[in-house]
Amino acid sequence: MSNKAILEINGEKHELPTFTGSENEVAIDISSLRAVTKGVTTIDPGFKNTGSCVSEITFLDGEKGILRYRGYSIEELAEKADFLEVAYLLIFGELPTKEALDKFHADIKSESIVDDDIRKIIDAFPKSAHPMGVLSSLTSALTAFNPSSVNVDSEKDMYNSVVRILGKFPVLVAWAMRKKQGLPLDYGDNSLGYVENVLKMMFKQPNEEYVQNEVLVNALNKLLILHADHEQNCSTSTVRIVGSSHAGLFASISAGISALWGPLHGGANQAVLEMLEAIKEDGGDTKKYMAKAKDKSDPFRLMGFGHRVYKNFDPRAKIIKVTADEVLNDLGVEDPILDIAKGLEQEALTDAYFIDRKLYPNVDFYSGIIYRAMGIPVEMFTVMFALGRLPGWIGQWREMRLRKEPIGRPRQIYTGSTLRPFKSVAKK
Ligand code: SDX
Repeated sequence: MSNKAILEINGEKHELPTFTGSENEVAIDISSLRAVTKGVTTIDPGFKNTGSCVSEITFLDGEKGILRYRGYSIEELAEKADFLEVAYLLIFGELPTKEALDKFHADIKSESIVDDDIRKIIDAFPKSAHPMGVLSSLTSALTAFNPSSVNVDSEKDMYNSVVRILGKFPVLVAWAMRKKQGLPLDYGDNSLGYVENVLKMMFKQPNEEYVQNEVLVNALNKLLILHADHEQNCSTSTVRIVGSSHAGLFASISAGISALWGPLHGGANQAVLEMLEAIKEDGGDTKKYMAKAKDKSDPFRLMGFGHRVYKNFDPRAKIIKVTADEVLNDLGVEDPILDIAKGLEQEALTDAYFIDRKLYPNVDFYSGIIYRAMGIPVEMFTVMFALGRLPGWIGQWREMRLRKEPIGRPRQIYTGSTLRPFKSVAKK
């Protein structure tokens, strides 16, 4: 296959090199474009056709519905792996040995205390504050209490920052939830596994022993794995571009949390539940909401449907849909919302508007049903997405920094006023 592309513009022909990845994806390398064409640039709103980097972390094929972390299929990892094992794989590139995993977990545990002054920051928030705003603020505040984690260049300093954020982030997640519930902000238990400890920190009542529920542990382990990375999505691209200025890891993650919060991105899992609740309140009238979703004059979108890359089923949605049935069954929970979701899915999958636009359920469509069955409040759903995505953000940030990639600074095409003289109306 030719390894060059020919561009003809302004009566001149230019050869641009092409680049082929390990899964035979082909890219035109335009890094010399402005130089060889004396200033011509490209435009691609939303970067629908533009690659920002090469990466060895996650591969997804939107047409075939394939998702792999470092070459391992999401189906296998979700079924057989432990979340911390997947975190290690995403960050360092290989599955850990037992010894390496034990050391990784021990190093994380040694960093799982958050400076008590952070409580003063969380105390300043009203109970009504959205936990994603609290989490983003507290994550950025971690920089103030861990200054050595700011501009890390050496792999050793980077490792220390990585285990620090993996140790402290679950505490901040639990505190964000308990703050809203008016519960004391405490710590988990270093004798527990990573996921067990998250559940205990979130759900332990001050006057009761916390008893682990294996159904919840397995469900959360699977959900965190399914959310762990997704190549150059909006929030990961944010983490990479903020990190490219050599802002620290915590500041870059804080920016990623803010990007994930949006209802078009991670915030969709909360929006899906609110939409399904509205449909239920409306007597389960799914046809009315399908019509709203197709009405261009109506801003309403069928939340949890559609994807920038997947033009087939999101493989994660398939797994989560099966898991939703299993978890509700194991917990003995009847949730009419699940039936409404399945009905909506069936209608959308046979509707020309959705078929023509290749709109399928995405990762956010069913996940909220499981979170709700687990007793997690709806405003915490996107926080749970962030907890899962943390190792992916870390791995992508680390890859960008180790490769010493340049600062991210896109170009533009100016369409505003051309030069005009200034005439002050203030001074005569
Ligand atoms: C995540 O990128 C990632 O990898 C993200 C993620 C990850 O793991 O990081 O997978 C997580 O963010 C999943 C997506 C969650 N968001 C939602 O569920 C919100 C609802 N979905 C949409 O807003 C939309 O589908 C996006 C944002 C997900 C994708 O938008 P695109 O790729 O920019 O597509 P588009 O907005 O240009 O839509 C193309 C057409 C348009 O119609 P036409 O103008 O062609 O007539 O499809 C329509 C859109 O109006 N459309 C929808 C729709 N999604 C797209 N119409 C109704 N309901 C929808 N949900």
